[in-house]
Amino acid sequence: MGRPEVPEAVDPSRLVELTELDEIEVEIEKLVAGGDGLGRYKGVAIFVARSAPGDRLRVRIVERQPQYARAEILEVLQPGADRRPPPCAHFADCGGCSLQHLEDQAQVEWKVRAAREALDRLSGLEIDVPERVVRGDAWHYRLRAQLQMDGDPGAARVGYFGRRSHDLVPIRECPVLAEPLEAFVTELPKLLQERVPRRLDVTLGGEGELSCGPALPGLPTGGVTRRVGDLAYEYDARTFFQAHRGLLEELTEAVIGTERGEWAFDLYAGVGLFSLPLAKLYSQVTAVESDRIAVRYLRKNARRAHLTNVEVVDSAVETWIDRMPKHADRVIVDPPRPGLALHVRGALRRLRPSRITYISCHPAALARDLGSLDPDFALEGLVYLDLFPQTGHLEIVAQLRARD
Ligand SMILES: C[S@@+](CC[C@H](N)C(=O)[O-])C[C@H]1O[C@@H](n2cnc3c(N)ncnc32)[C@H](O)[C@@H]1O
Repeated sequence: MGRPEVPEAVDPSRLVELTELDEIEVEIEKLVAGGDGLGRYKGVAIFVARSAPGDRLRVRIVERQPQYARAEILEVLQPGADRRPPPCAHFADCGGCSLQHLEDQAQVEWKVRAAREALDRLSGLEIDVPERVVRGDAWHYRLRAQLQMDGDPGAARVGYFGRRSHDLVPIRECPVLAEPLEAFVTELPKLLQERVPRRLDVTLGGEGELSCGPALPGLPTGGVTRRVGDLAYEYDARTFFQAHRGLLEELTEAVIGTERGEWAFDLYAGVGLFSLPLAKLYSQVTAVESDRIAVRYLRKNARRAHLTNVEVVDSAVETWIDRMPKHADRVIVDPPRPGLALHVRGALRRLRPSRITYISCHPAALARDLGSLDPDFALEGLVYLDLFPQTGHLEIVAQLRARD
């Protein structure tokens, strides 16, 4: 799964002609899932980070594999039509963003195309379903930051890991962060007067309130609250919460829809972003989540919303799944990047819920799982949400229905 997707079979003997550190010229055809550009050298796939479709580049080979190579840009000989100067001063060194060199609108178009191609190629399915693309603000959207730091109290350096390294890149600005978060991050060196942790997670609530983890003297900590539609969610810096502040409603709507029923399951539930609206449409909701802190917030969020029909299970989905009843009405799965374990896919096929909604930010994992669920579940629709502008990532919501 860590390997890029090789677009089509190549003759591996061609790679013998390429050695590491070789310099070659390539033209970039398109982006692949994850955001790298794809060029070819004598038919061999060459993946080039931070390239733009249409670029003609002089590159250096930095990695050779049996079926493809990776290269780094040495010189842009002819820029592609969508290339632009990256707006953030740190883009060249910082590992946080990878697509700032592409126009905002073009990023979404190329990412959707790449995700769609990965789904086609890796699922083994002929996908022909309604599709929709949802995009929001491309800047100042992020609600969370995972900061790296070093130095002494009063003189700390605060930033992110560098590109493909664990070297700290100190930052003066970070224009993908929501403004209050960006202001806080740039003030942080002054605020860290007693201790400088190596890593600090920070998250923003709906009223501008902040939460940091781990807890440190002088820094805000504890729960923050954000409304999505008519529901309120409390979470903190240690728990997962979706990162794009402008697309929370759209994501929830794309996932939940309007169908009603008896028994629904929200697997990998976090603090309940989907469990709560689900509980308004289904008589009984079971939410399964393995992170203890998230479980605590999930229970609290359901209680606050007076949703007494939400049962929260503190467990890994893999150990719980065999307890799911047969023929449930609805199952939502929002697993981490590697997707569903083989055992979970097998259990879903055996238990045959009427509907599955699958949320993924990893097209290759989603493709594999759609392929293995396909004998029992037909794909009915896809929504692509640009939850991570300026990066190669894209969120995909796939709706599936049990076959008769
Ligand atoms: C991508 S997040 C989605 C959370 C939630 N659906 C949301 O949108 O806010 C995945 C969640 O799954 C949880 N998780 C990871 N592995 C798990 C497992 N094996 N079993 C249950 N939960 C797990 C994580 O703690 C995290 O809260």
